Amino acid sequence: MDWKIKKALPLNCELEVPGDKSISHRSVMLAALSRGSCVIRGFLPGEDCLSTMEAMRSLGVALEQPNPTTLIVYGNGGEFKKPNKDIDCGNSGTTMRLLSGLLAGQSFESRLFGDASLSKRPMKRVIDPLSKMGARIVPENSPDRPPLRVQGGPLKAIDYVSPVASAQVKSAVLLAGLYADGTTSVTEPTLSRDHTERMLEYFGVRVEREGLKVSVKGGSRPQPRDFRVPGDVSSAAFWLVAAAASPGAHLRVNHVGMNPSRTGILAVLTRMGARVREFEFQNEGEPIGTIDIEGAQLKATRIEGKEIPNVIDELPILAVAAALANGVTVIADAAELRVKETDRLAAIAHHLREMGVPVVEFPDGLEITGGATLKGAKLDSLGDHRIAMAFAVAGLFAQGETVITGTDCVNTSYPGFYDILQRVTAERAVGEHLVLKLEESASEPLE
Ligand code: S3P
Repeated sequence: MDWKIKKALPLNCELEVPGDKSISHRSVMLAALSRGSCVIRGFLPGEDCLSTMEAMRSLGVALEQPNPTTLIVYGNGGEFKKPNKDIDCGNSGTTMRLLSGLLAGQSFESRLFGDASLSKRPMKRVIDPLSKMGARIVPENSPDRPPLRVQGGPLKAIDYVSPVASAQVKSAVLLAGLYADGTTSVTEPTLSRDHTERMLEYFGVRVEREGLKVSVKGGSRPQPRDFRVPGDVSSAAFWLVAAAASPGAHLRVNHVGMNPSRTGILAVLTRMGARVREFEFQNEGEPIGTIDIEGAQLKATRIEGKEIPNVIDELPILAVAAALANGVTVIADAAELRVKETDRLAAIAHHLREMGVPVVEFPDGLEITGGATLKGAKLDSLGDHRIAMAFAVAGLFAQGETVITGTDCVNTSYPGFYDILQRVTAERAVGEHLVLKLEESASEPLE
């Protein structure tokens, strides 16, 4: 379905967002590694996480899904059985890379494949460390592209210095480390999201952290525990920018993940002039809280260096914020965006230019001259959920109609996004404040 978007009034609402994608993947995997049953609430029923769920099922893990956001996982201590068919990772890099880590420690061969986008994504980053540990991983497409054949076996611990700040790489090695003989460590150049570390600890696994180095002991296994997945701050990001760039807007996002390795967007929007307040309420493994934001005429900023891994998934929507801000915003050190679901630097540059925004594209970033009125355009998602949603938000600020094509990909991370967009931007009486609970904002009703 194509999305048709028109200029909207400032948001005035309160909402919840679906479960965090990164945390949902990890919750199923860690529960599967435990020996006992775990109830996971707030699971994201997006296609990416369903790929992980089905993968665990095909590895012999019993799972029930009494409603879309609740899973009961009967862990088998991580002793998986050889799947009787190839494992379909869909569009999900997290599924393929983290699963490679788990499969590296099994005594059988498995084959992982994905859709056209995933088939173009680099896998050397996990093949290198997992091969050093003793697994044999063969990419079927050169140089290092999926499908992957993973022949697992006894693993030896390594002390791995990762060339990329990637939570997927770090997590793949740590998960393999649970099967290795000895203590496995990963050191990354800059801190990437630390969900795996926090969740391993929550599930009772001892994790040593020292600066950018994190270690686990081979043979440790998570204990069965129930877990609640917080709302995804990367999904909240689209509404946060829609409000931040609109003077007079007021948005509150409830029950959202506040992990400091993920909330860099709040610092960026504050620098750009939005008024942001955060309240943390709970911390059961992952901090959960409320974000309050009031819109303003934004001003340009620089986003670079250590901040990049913290906002890596938010850069498409932050580029839209930059287009709406006065001045020249620079995004640098973000070459990783070229190997996401699509080449996001090229996609952002192309789509912003279509909307009349001057953009200079560099190998590792963008220079965006903001402040002029955007013009509506017909834009394709390029199969990338975050490109679709970011430019839908851009359309709320544009003169004329914006049409987004190829929107099915949004189901990977945010089923129901377009419904919410229509509801939060529907005209209301002056001062009327809309409150959307997750059950209302989920695309599928809860039982
Ligand atoms: C993720 C890590 C990030 C992020 C992706 C999810 C994860 O990727 O972009 O959407 O769940 O570990 P990298 O690890 O490749 O940076």
